Amino acid sequence: MKKKLRSTEWFGKTDKMGFIYRSWMRNQGIPDHEFDGRPVIGICNTWSELTPCNAHFRELAEAVKRGVLEAGGFPLEFPVTSLGETMMRPTAMLFRNLASMDTEESIRANPLDGVVLLVGCDKTTPSTLMGAASVNLPTIIVSGGPMLNGKYRGEDIGSGTMVWKFSEDLRAGKMSPKEFAIAEACMSRSRGHCMTMGTASTMACMVESLGMSLPENAAIPAADSRRKVAAHMSGQRIVEMVHEDLKISDILTRKAFENAIKVNAAVGGSTNFIIHLLAIAGRVGVDLNLDDFDQLGSRIPFLLNLMPSGKYLMEDFYYAGGLPVVIKELKDHLHNDALTVNGKTIGENVADAECFNRDVIASIDNPILAEGGITVVKGNLCENGAVIKPSAATPELMQHRGRAVVFESNEDYHHRIDDPDLDIDETCIMVLKNVGPKGYPGMPEVGNMGMPKKLLEKGVRDMVRISDGRMSGTAYGTVFLHVSPESAIGGTLALVENGDMIEVDVKNRRLHLDVSDEELARRRAAWKPAVDDTVRGYVKMYVDHVNQADKGADLDFLVGKTGSAVPKDNH
Ligand code: FES
Repeated sequence: MKKKLRSTEWFGKTDKMGFIYRSWMRNQGIPDHEFDGRPVIGICNTWSELTPCNAHFRELAEAVKRGVLEAGGFPLEFPVTSLGETMMRPTAMLFRNLASMDTEESIRANPLDGVVLLVGCDKTTPSTLMGAASVNLPTIIVSGGPMLNGKYRGEDIGSGTMVWKFSEDLRAGKMSPKEFAIAEACMSRSRGHCMTMGTASTMACMVESLGMSLPENAAIPAADSRRKVAAHMSGQRIVEMVHEDLKISDILTRKAFENAIKVNAAVGGSTNFIIHLLAIAGRVGVDLNLDDFDQLGSRIPFLLNLMPSGKYLMEDFYYAGGLPVVIKELKDHLHNDALTVNGKTIGENVADAECFNRDVIASIDNPILAEGGITVVKGNLCENGAVIKPSAATPELMQHRGRAVVFESNEDYHHRIDDPDLDIDETCIMVLKNVGPKGYPGMPEVGNMGMPKKLLEKGVRDMVRISDGRMSGTAYGTVFLHVSPESAIGGTLALVENGDMIEVDVKNRRLHLDVSDEELARRRAAWKPAVDDTVRGYVKMYVDHVNQADKGADLDFLVGKTGSAVPKDNH
């Protein structure tokens, strides 16, 4: 028997309530037949001119609508909170959970049978997927696509990655302010999101490897007409998914999460992947923890030669065959029988994938690195873990002992980093406190602290850095992130002092503060948390309820799902 659509609880009524639900919708010129019981598809749009990576989404929504109409559905576009990574202060991450609440409640409260999520800039993907997962309707994701390659003086330049490099060159006197200004316009020259393997591209690969999008969704450039075709076909497919009752929980199984972790390792995805995937798993009730990322991902060969770990950009990735090629290369490691939104398995989807440039996508037999992924380290400095991306780090620094140079806050770091009297050399380890989920608040991308000017002038380009913050997926360096528990709640990181020795040993998964237990106990007894009485509103709720990084930094009361039951009538 055909399942009754939830939208008929609005538009199928013949009483006063049916009049109310339909009558006001008709002011948009909607004819009778749209209310005849066909699937109502919500197009959840993160469009905003303040989120430049998603500024082309109104056009993309039109392509989705065409597909929905062709398949006999009734498309209704609605906005949700958009999170612009480059604009929002103190950090877009502070609002990821807020946007997820907006998405969840907007879907559940409305007459929707299926949902298309239009996402692009970093946090717009996990926030909407987290929210949609807590409702669990048939859902498909359409990413907005990466920008075309940046071009500066005949060279390809990648979003973010080259900002960090140019800014260090400017500080070291290797680039003039005029050249710096010219490069700014050369980097972002088309619609779309960051075209390095930063967090947005990582998220696009994540949803494709989870099975939440059509094949090829991750890499098609935003400016390529095939991006609109993908949106159109996703619109068609979501109507079928409603008829098939193919829900998020049918796709997001433990197998899908394991596949996503392995694919992320092969593409050299952002460390932000961890925090978002943990939060998504928490919404659907899949048991996933930090150790899974190391155990499943760290032995996967690294295959994709993209910045920040490599040379190319997303446009090149698409022309080389895109993510289906990577998934096919990994077939001996993946659950090939995991179901995807098109009703086929992930293995079936990539059976015909072909690589057109082995310099961009390496084969599994001849990888760029034998082991990729993200390594999870533990020790007295991070009892619940910290993470590092080895492919973006300096091999010689992965085993290192150095003297701590401590910055108590991001402001303290900016104030002192270029002080010629700062007692620091390239063997030191920079430690940044109070940039975790509660401490900043919002866990900003400041973990890849820039080098001290005096060391840049000496030619030093990398040092070991440790913090409870995150780093941009476009960044690189020997950077330990997401230290948990964070310093603001009294984690050992809070107790580190200038001159302490720290041991880093990535091979043995160890991050150790070489200070005796007695001395640490003494420091702990003297430690006091900072109290800010001025915090109110959403930020207060966030600080009071945010989980630590190793749990995905979701709000504690948002973990899990409520489902899609139709709420009470409103009049
Ligand atoms: Fe939007 Fe990088 S700033 S994806």
